[in-house]
Amino acid sequence: MELPFAESWKIKMVEPIRKSTREEREKWIKDANYNVFQLPADQVYIDCLTDSGTGAMSDRQWAALMMGDESYAGSRSFFELRDVVRRLTGFEYVIPTHQGRAAENVLFSHLVKAGDIVPGNSHFDTTKGHIESRKAVAYDCTVDEAKDTQLELPFKGNVDIAKLEKVLAENTDKISFIIVTITNNTAGGQPVSMANLKDIRKVADRYGKRVIFDSARFAENAYFIKTREEGYADKTIKEISREMFSYADGMTMSAKKDGLVNMGGFIATRHEDWYEGAKNYCIPFEGYLTYGGMNGRDMAALAIGLEENTEFDNLDTRIRQVQYLAARLDEYGIPYQRPAGGHAIFVDARLVLPNVPKEEFPAQTLTVELYKEGGVRGCEIGYILADRDPVTRENRFNGLDLLRICIPRRVYTNNHMDVIAAALKNVYDRRMSITRGYKIEWEAELMRHFTVKLSPLA
Ligand code: F0G
Repeated sequence: MELPFAESWKIKMVEPIRKSTREEREKWIKDANYNVFQLPADQVYIDCLTDSGTGAMSDRQWAALMMGDESYAGSRSFFELRDVVRRLTGFEYVIPTHQGRAAENVLFSHLVKAGDIVPGNSHFDTTKGHIESRKAVAYDCTVDEAKDTQLELPFKGNVDIAKLEKVLAENTDKISFIIVTITNNTAGGQPVSMANLKDIRKVADRYGKRVIFDSARFAENAYFIKTREEGYADKTIKEISREMFSYADGMTMSAKKDGLVNMGGFIATRHEDWYEGAKNYCIPFEGYLTYGGMNGRDMAALAIGLEENTEFDNLDTRIRQVQYLAARLDEYGIPYQRPAGGHAIFVDARLVLPNVPKEEFPAQTLTVELYKEGGVRGCEIGYILADRDPVTRENRFNGLDLLRICIPRRVYTNNHMDVIAAALKNVYDRRMSITRGYKIEWEAELMRHFTVKLSPLA
């Protein structure tokens, strides 16, 4: 008999989590104004809000914390981190930052100016925020196939090369770089193929432009290239990562994802001029160049996290768990962005709750239903998150309306996945009777989903 698949680690430390009753959860979510960001985490049983900073560190990482060098300048832990980043990416210059959006802030302060256009594939919210706040435009060139959740394609995170060519040809002077997000979070944790990365490089070279990777989940992207793209099955994750980065000029990194740490980030580049430019913003915003907002011990743990998470077995355990949850949802016929992404399942709320009008926020309704049903906290990646059109102030209903169930790294077992799937099935079974959603009582002008106050319409 073939031996079944199992995790590539065992558990050395546990943290109790609290179950609750439906009555308790109904009160708690009402107190939170039907916004899961407003729930105290103690009121959550299984927390799938994000995979950012929520992973479990290994024994080697915890040991590294004790060895961290807290020197203000020239910390040994910085050099350990820099050397790993150099080896994995080929980028010579490394600037630590306290998280991913700080890396964006520092680098974009040097690169982005009013009137610029920054093409990319579904820029993450903070990336878009750092572009738009500088009065520049984040121009989305994601392939159209990403919008059809039921289409099963291996690389739905790709950049549409024709769209990229067009925006480059028409706005050559306004574009200084292209940003490619690997994996494409907003499109559902979907990967970008090596062939696509090569094509982006070619087009960029033709127009004399540079390329940045938003690399939060680069190792998961490398896993998908290894397991899905021809010619890569026998290459290691480290070899694939190195090849991916060979097509870029630099990267921003949220180390809270594929760095396997709870806090951290960095910028890396092969270009001295970018390094010199970014340096000027790192020091006032983040801190001196050899810590940039991170503790020495955190840089030490990150150096090891990057090594561990570019090993196949670790990634295989992680991504198979997401796929395990997807297989449960398939059994129950629950529609999600196909195929399952690297870090999360994105349930298609418009298909699950056809009777809730879009003006009443189906994905938010589903998010609240899932919490009430099982104490499972996902989050809405949909019409509330999309904010209002800056000019018309109308809600934007043109994108997808999804419930993201995000899986922290090395934290939950497949039994927890079974609970999530069963809770979702119970909601799914009574989907036709769910006909009303939510009304906005109060909202912030930007990034409203974090603080929005809602009231139920039924
Ligand atoms: N880029 C991508 C693709 C991200 O997913 C995130 C964060 C960031 C940049 C910003 O990094 O949080 O370290 O400042 N994504 C988290 C999420 C918050 O839940 O998807 P950060």
